[in-house]
Amino acid sequence: MTRQATVRHLLMCRPHHYDVRYSINPWMEPADGADGDLAVRQWVRLRELYLDLGHKVEEIEPVEGLPDMVFAANGATVVGGRVLGARFRHPERAAEGPAYLDWFRAHGWDDVLDPVHVNEGEGDYLLAGDRLLAGTGFRTDPRSHAEAAEYLGVPVTPLRLVDPRYYHLDTALAVLAEGEVMYYPAAFAPESRELLADLYPEALLATDEDAAVFGLNAFSDGYNVVLPEAATRLARELAGRGFHPVGVDLSELLKAGGSVKCCTLELRDR
Ligand code: ARG
Repeated sequence: MTRQATVRHLLMCRPHHYDVRYSINPWMEPADGADGDLAVRQWVRLRELYLDLGHKVEEIEPVEGLPDMVFAANGATVVGGRVLGARFRHPERAAEGPAYLDWFRAHGWDDVLDPVHVNEGEGDYLLAGDRLLAGTGFRTDPRSHAEAAEYLGVPVTPLRLVDPRYYHLDTALAVLAEGEVMYYPAAFAPESRELLADLYPEALLATDEDAAVFGLNAFSDGYNVVLPEAATRLARELAGRGFHPVGVDLSELLKAGGSVKCCTLELRDR
């Protein structure tokens, strides 16, 4: 099978004010903190990798006091040039919503919605072909799903997450190409597992070990799949399916419960 990479337009946020200062998911240990300088070096490598792969990368200015702002995927959901803003579940991250919305408004994105319901952007909304897979259970309010469907003009498929370690959809599932995904079944409620098995009978299923190193928190351009380097079994499986896996080390960001995809927001202009 020949696979085709397509050029993506991405938004990232340098982890200049990054640290682990509070705990809103089981990965975060404020007593241990994180190495901010190393986080920046690891993030810079990810950004350079995207540029080397031919993608267009924009940057939003990090805001002091918002250590999780590096996780740009949570900042919005952008489909067909329309920007659905984020509204965070936890007060610690609340100010990130307006910060991202301001960036969009200042950069010529006119179709912007300040949402009513809690949704954590592409943490829980993943576009798969012409359907939006929508995680819920921990962060995004299920009432947001109708808001997203109406504003973005795409059908929304809700998926319920049940394992607190995999609190965002993008920690448990990655879209690899139009009709292709990889996911960790145990992160989903039984009815959602059934739905996924129906929708994607050929899906690449992750093991406990793949999921635990955040192997599903991956970015795919249709050919290159950037994922945590520790996810070696997933990388082999991806290569076997004709993808080009590229491993990266984001150990410092994993201390906040994030990795490749969390650091990457896709701007779908059209
Ligand atoms: N510490 C952040 C939180 O718990 C990590 C967010 C990771 N981002 C993501 N897209 N999964 O909210």
